[in-house]
Amino acid sequence: MTAVPRFAATADSVPSPAMLEAWSRDGVLVIENAVTAADCDALIERSRAIVEAWDPAEGAAVFSTTAPRHAAESWFRESGDKVRVFLEDGAVDADGRLVRPKLAAVNKLGHAMHDLDPVFDRVSRRPQLSTLAHGLGLADPLLVQSMVIWKPPSIGGEVTCHQDATFLVTDPPSVVGFWVALEDADASNGCLYAIPGGHRGPLRRLFHEVGGELVTETLDPTPFDEAAAVPLPAPKGTLVVLHGKLPHGSAPNTSDRSRMAYTLHVVDGTARWHPGNWLRRPPDRPFRGFEEAG
Ligand code: FE2
Repeated sequence: MTAVPRFAATADSVPSPAMLEAWSRDGVLVIENAVTAADCDALIERSRAIVEAWDPAEGAAVFSTTAPRHAAESWFRESGDKVRVFLEDGAVDADGRLVRPKLAAVNKLGHAMHDLDPVFDRVSRRPQLSTLAHGLGLADPLLVQSMVIWKPPSIGGEVTCHQDATFLVTDPPSVVGFWVALEDADASNGCLYAIPGGHRGPLRRLFHEVGGELVTETLDPTPFDEAAAVPLPAPKGTLVVLHGKLPHGSAPNTSDRSRMAYTLHVVDGTARWHPGNWLRRPPDRPFRGFEEAG
């Protein structure tokens, strides 16, 4: 098991030659102190306010990567241009009623905070991220999806090993994930893990709409080499950049500490957006780049 290198943010945010080499070799970049503690706190505060303001009677879906029944839920399917709350498996009873306080029950928020919430918009469209995205080869970066991964203490669910290009489909694959530790993440509270170099293998699965149903299609049955996975501990403010074909995931949070993270997914506008993507935008709310105002 070889740990991946860790970098400090460069002064101008242009990736250094060593960063580009690591990106090409490993498919992952770990950049410490890339986001200020103040911005992390601002996103946490906004996220809590969104959950506090949410009325569970509006509807919610239990989000679980181990039992993907959410796929049939309109709550999920209609969330591509909204800010919606998704709940942990263990947070609702058989009738779907909350059995925990709201703030201790959330699995994630998604999927358009970066376009709809001024604080998320500001942090997501920091010039530093735009520079980094261009520096990593995205010619026309478009911000398509944002999520706050809540990982509440004791019930924060596992995210099974996957490739983001399964879920955000372009031809050719182009998605890049920008994952920010809003709180310290380590092995005890379910930090990320990844298989360095695994992005050079094939895309295994495609999650897309076929005949009105969301299905997971196997493209290549080669199993992930999970024995080669390395943990990616990330102190608050660390940015982990994930190649769209890099196999990664995170363990459940069984600790008494929360592990909030913010993920922004960017695709290249020069690649073709697959019409069967689960994530939809109405014509009057198209994907926007880093510099495009809403
Ligand atoms: Fe992911």
